[in-house]
Amino acid sequence: MLIKNIAQPTTRNEICMKDLFEKIYRDKGPLGKWASQAEGYFVFPKLEGEISNRMKFQGKDVITWSINDYLGLANHPEVRKVDAEAAAKYGSAYPMGARMMSGHTELHEQLQQELAQFVNKEAAYLLNFGYQGILSTIDALVAKDDIIVYDVDAHACIIDGVRLHMGKRFTYKHNDIDSLEKNLDRATKMAEQTGGGILVISEGVFGMRGEQGRLKEIVELKKKFNFRFLVDDAHGFGTLGKTGAGAGEEQGVQDGIDVYFATFAKSMASTGAFIAADQEIIDYLKYNLRSQMFAKSLQMQLVIGALKRLEMLRTMPELKEKLWENVNALQSGLKDRGFDIGTTQSCVTPVYLKGSIPEAMALVKDLRENYGIFCSIVVYPVIPKGLILLRMIPTATHTLEDVQITLDAFSAIRDRLNNGTYRKISAAIMAAMGDK
Ligand SMILES: Cc1ncc(COP(=O)(O)O)c(C=O)c1O
Repeated sequence: MLIKNIAQPTTRNEICMKDLFEKIYRDKGPLGKWASQAEGYFVFPKLEGEISNRMKFQGKDVITWSINDYLGLANHPEVRKVDAEAAAKYGSAYPMGARMMSGHTELHEQLQQELAQFVNKEAAYLLNFGYQGILSTIDALVAKDDIIVYDVDAHACIIDGVRLHMGKRFTYKHNDIDSLEKNLDRATKMAEQTGGGILVISEGVFGMRGEQGRLKEIVELKKKFNFRFLVDDAHGFGTLGKTGAGAGEEQGVQDGIDVYFATFAKSMASTGAFIAADQEIIDYLKYNLRSQMFAKSLQMQLVIGALKRLEMLRTMPELKEKLWENVNALQSGLKDRGFDIGTTQSCVTPVYLKGSIPEAMALVKDLRENYGIFCSIVVYPVIPKGLILLRMIPTATHTLEDVQITLDAFSAIRDRLNNGTYRKISAAIMAAMGDK
């Protein structure tokens, strides 16, 4: 292999040193290794046109099932108007600086108050991105002598937050309350030695498979164990609960969640996020969240846009109703046709099929080119070998006609998968996409 500009190996103490970039030239990582076959099509695809149920992919019309615009706000005319007016008034720079220094405004405070009220907490604090925000929240909540216990299937942002922790951490089996109890037992014994406390972390909705976190049972465990509970409700906020306040509201345990997190990247169709908790906890986090203390404040156009979106979440229940009409039509239609949609309890709709990665590629290509259906595809190592996961996100912009077309397409591709069509053509597709 030709390695560019590589530094000469140096030997000292009999250890052969390498150029830092050598591993990068050699190997692009578990997903990156598929780049030559997949990039631009299966990964980093370019969806064009206005964000909606129907967009264009490589010049062809497709029904899009891979955008987390649950309530259809991304391209709603009222939202677009407010976004445009805010951008015209403030540009994209204002306010400059971090919240603590020069990036704080009345409207940031107003949005925080309205968010706190919406999710039934005393106070809230804005985060300029969900990912860094929750990572930093975990970092701020725990000290070296504290112990974290978290679901093994947690989102990357939780895993990365836990990575920052200098103390002990335990994972429990996905949504397995017995396993959580066992780990809480271990964590309690350890905390009694370190003199620290325990933080339990779950998602409100697990975004890949759609199951809700078992928040009710976890909160119930507070009677037996002493811990605080952080919930990442990225997919539950705006979609679950009577008022849309999320998985905690849906399960009637919002009070038992000590720190509630949601992003604006899904139901709110924007950028930014927030945490909500008791006033004293937010007052502490405000002064200790490194991702907010040392990074630029959420821009004003996003704050004003979020105020508008939140008002629509509060006043337009028909958006959530339409979303659920589509979710129910899609999920019950798939089940009626014998598809395995796992154990979803949310809008996230996974369809599990059996096949290899090349077969999965042939199948998705067929879906896009010949049936005009665009959905995300997930394969090993994210899910077990031999499984193909087609992940669909219904939104309020979809129609029942979209659902019907999609169900028919899914029945057709399943027949072709079962009769070996994709096995035969996958070799040709791989070759055409540059496989040697
Ligand atoms: C469960 C979960 N948590 C956190 C995030 C990160 O949010 P953001 O996109 O605002 O960084 C995401 C992705 O958007 C997510 O799915």
